[in-house]
Amino acid sequence: MALLGNPFVANVAKQMTEEETIQALRVDLAGELEAIIGYEAHAMSTSDERVKKVLYHVADEERQHVGELQQLLYILCPKEAENMEKGKQSIIQQQQQNFQGEMQ
Ligand SMILES: [Fe+2]
Repeated sequence: MALLGNPFVANVAKQMTEEETIQALRVDLAGELEAIIGYEAHAMSTSDERVKKVLYHVADEERQHVGELQQLLYILCPKEAENMEKGKQSIIQQQQQNFQGEMQ
């Protein structure tokens, strides 16, 4: 944490291209999912109801961040949204067939 005393520690050398921004958003999404897993693991690991309450609340906030980043990614990369929708529809179709149909 000593790095936080350095006012230049978060500076970056260049601006990202659009492709790099898209990749950065995917990395950010992974970070949000990792945060949810961490908060919930800590909440499950304590018997202190106060701590559980706050950690589950924070985990839900991270879920909102996932939605925000996901939507931003869809705006920057419509093909990503198209593929995600295909995946969702594939599972909806499987569910309608009680998961007995062929995967498309
Ligand atoms: Fe977050």
